[in-house]
Amino acid sequence: MGMDLQEIERDALAELDRSASLPEIDAVYTRYLGRKEGRLSGILRNLSALSDDEKKRVGQEANKLRTVLEERFAAKQKSLKDAALDSAVAGQRVDLSLPGTFFGRGNAHPILETIREIADIFGNIGFRMVEGPEIETDKNNFTDLNIPENHPARDMQDTFYIDRKSDDGKPLLLRTHTSPVQVRIMKSMPPPVRIISAGRVFRHEATDATHAAIFHQIEGLAVDENLSFADLKGTLAHFAESYFGPKTKVRFSPSYFPFVEPGAQMDASCFLCGGSGRINGEVPCNICKATGWIEVLGAGMVNPQVLRNVGYDPEEVSGFAFGIGVERIVMTRLQVRDIRLFLDSDLRFLEQFS
Ligand code: PHE
Repeated sequence: MGMDLQEIERDALAELDRSASLPEIDAVYTRYLGRKEGRLSGILRNLSALSDDEKKRVGQEANKLRTVLEERFAAKQKSLKDAALDSAVAGQRVDLSLPGTFFGRGNAHPILETIREIADIFGNIGFRMVEGPEIETDKNNFTDLNIPENHPARDMQDTFYIDRKSDDGKPLLLRTHTSPVQVRIMKSMPPPVRIISAGRVFRHEATDATHAAIFHQIEGLAVDENLSFADLKGTLAHFAESYFGPKTKVRFSPSYFPFVEPGAQMDASCFLCGGSGRINGEVPCNICKATGWIEVLGAGMVNPQVLRNVGYDPEEVSGFAFGIGVERIVMTRLQVRDIRLFLDSDLRFLEQFS
């Protein structure tokens, strides 16, 4: 029996030595120490056939051998696992000298960038940014703004109507300008009002390099006691100087919008040629087409009828309003020649503005 144990020990260790993987070790383990078929387990199971003395001696030796073998198996298993881990780690080692992966940094769309810049200029002088919906009622977009039933702006050619009606039975529409925000804000609060609002507007137009069916406007509105055209001029001159540069001059010429009276168009002196129309006194300026002026916005004193429509008293308050075409001024400032580029999402165009 003693011989058997020595033989088992020698065989088991030799096989363990030869095994080079965890499954192989498991197989050897089962052959020697496995509960059912293991050679050592077999000896322990057959102890009952021996005399009491033998039982004790063989039992002790067999158990000692079991402990020894268990330790050897565990040690071999551990060394294989360690080696596997080491080589895995070595294979995955991070090479800190490699150049990193470059994730390109995005930039805001030039239209959004401009809206933010202009919102900041007006924000600094007390104009709060508000929002209005792109789907509007006929009343907000036209009637309350004093745009009469037969005004050309309502023409089916110009307005996108929606296949759904508002409470007054008239079809809803995509706002053709941001001016309905004026109506909404005045109906929602008493004067004084000082807001700007930016967003998309929609017109059913044939598109070309200077006309798009979707573009952006920034609306401004101030209503208070005793506001005059001088306040309008001062505010908008401040805007032009902040946006185009401190030497910028402005000029106003009469213009017609049903919701203002008087109405005006504001031009700013050209930021490139300084208003002379020529560069270096010679070359005709291509920003202002040699006129010295660039068209910036439409504006005017809020028509008293609009004040009445929203429940304000034109005997007590007056106001001024303006509307800036965002694409137009970005195109002028950045020399963009086709308005459709703003909607195309072509990165070759957009990445120039980062
Ligand atoms: N809503 C006008 C337009 O779309 C612009 C405007 C706004 C003019 C406010 C005067 C005052 O053309």
